[in-house]
Amino acid sequence: MRRAVCPGSFDPIHNGHIEVIARAAGLFDEVIVAVSTNYAKKYRFTLTERLTMARTTFSALSGIVVEPVGEGLLSDFCHDRGVSAIVKGLRTSSDFDYELPMATMNRHLSGVETLFLPGDSRYLHLSSTLIKEVSSLGGDVSGFVPRAVLRRLNGETGPDTRPVPIVSPRI
Ligand code: PNS
Repeated sequence: MRRAVCPGSFDPIHNGHIEVIARAAGLFDEVIVAVSTNYAKKYRFTLTERLTMARTTFSALSGIVVEPVGEGLLSDFCHDRGVSAIVKGLRTSSDFDYELPMATMNRHLSGVETLFLPGDSRYLHLSSTLIKEVSSLGGDVSGFVPRAVLRRLNGETGPDTRPVPIVSPRI
């Protein structure tokens, strides 16, 4: 079983994340979407909300599971689950500058490699921060987030009765 981890805060998950996760799922037998909590960060959504939005988004797909990272190191999380690679999407060179030290540290800590996938050009401008700001000021983010996130941003509660959305690498 070739297993990969796609880690992140996912506050909230957006189509740029989903596109990279779906491509990772085409390369590995199983992808774990690992939702982290960094206590130095201020989140808009609780860990439970971030997990629920991600789980709802991937519920129709086999081979993609969503788990919390917990309080420890991502490298230990990967080691404990027999993960061969961390997969991250890159939008810009500043993403690479941010990611490279973590990739090197994780390899030194547990031997886990990090693979970088170039983000799709349709989503290079997306960040969770920008989506929250645009949405809170009344902008339309429906083309950039999965339905579970749009419903949460719009304050919709109640069950979602529409058919389960299809998520594929061509979203
Ligand atoms: O979406 P983010 O906030 O940029 O994701 C950062 C993440 C989750 C990849 C990073 O904070 C992480 O790996 N956290 C787990 C704790 C850890 O292992 N820290 C040391 C990283 S070398």
